[in-house]
Amino acid sequence: MREAGKYNSLVMQEIAKNIKVGVSTQRLDDIAYRKIKALGCKPSCLGYEGFPASVCISVNDEVVHGIPGKRIIKNGDIVSVDLVVSYKGYHADATRTYIVGNVSKEVQELVENTKKAFYEGVKVIKNGIRVRDISRAIEKYAHDHGLSVVEELVGHGIGTDMHEEPDIPNFDDGSMVKLKTGMVIAIEPMLNLGEKEVYLDDNDWTVKTMDGKPSAHYENTVLITDDGYEILTGD
Ligand code: MF3
Ligand code: CO
Repeated sequence: MREAGKYNSLVMQEIAKNIKVGVSTQRLDDIAYRKIKALGCKPSCLGYEGFPASVCISVNDEVVHGIPGKRIIKNGDIVSVDLVVSYKGYHADATRTYIVGNVSKEVQELVENTKKAFYEGVKVIKNGIRVRDISRAIEKYAHDHGLSVVEELVGHGIGTDMHEEPDIPNFDDGSMVKLKTGMVIAIEPMLNLGEKEVYLDDNDWTVKTMDGKPSAHYENTVLITDDGYEILTGD
C-alpha cells in the first residue's frame, strides 16, 4: 500500500502541473490515465459502478464525483482532484483541491482549512482510538472556522477494495469502532463555505452544494501505527 500511495502522489503531481486556465477536465483525465498506466498501476475509478473516467474532477460547487469532460478551467475556479490507483491489487486514495488564479479570501481559507481539518483528524490517531475521535476533531475544526460538513459522504477503510469498513465520517455519528495498528483508512473532509446540504446532479454521479457555494475536499490514505499514523499518499 506504501507503493500504491507513492504512485498515487506521482500521478497527482502530474495532474497538478497541468491544471491551468484553459485546460479541459477531459485533458486532465487523459493525462492521469497515461501516467497511471506508465507507472504500472490501474485507475480504480474507471468503470467502478460505471464511472466513465480515471479520476473525479469536481469544480467549485461540485463536492465530489465530477465527471471529466468538455468543461474548461477558468480563473477563480477551485478544482478538486480525487484519485484512486491500485498497484498489485492494493488501492490508494487521495484528493487535493487546487486554486486556479485569483479567488476571494474566504475561498482561499475554505481550501486551506479543509486541508487543516484533515490534519486535525489524523493528529489524534494511534492504536486503539475510536473512529469518532477522528470525526469529532474534523467537525470541531470545521465549525470553529465557519465551515459546514457534508454528511452524505464519508471516509472509509481501504485495501484490496477501494471502499472497506469502517466508515470514517467527518462529523460525530457516535461510531465507537476501534482502529488498530496495521489498519488503513482514507480520511477525507468535504467542507462547504455555505450550508451543508447537497444534491445529486442529473448525471447521477456528481454531488453539488444545494446553495451553489463552493466546496473543498482533502484526502489521504493513512496507516494506523502503535503510537501514531503514517500518511501513504504524500502531503
Ligand atoms: N475517492 C472516491 C470515493 O471514495 C472514488 C469514487 S470512485 C468513482 O468515493 F467511481 F466515483 F469514481
Ligand atoms: Co475516498
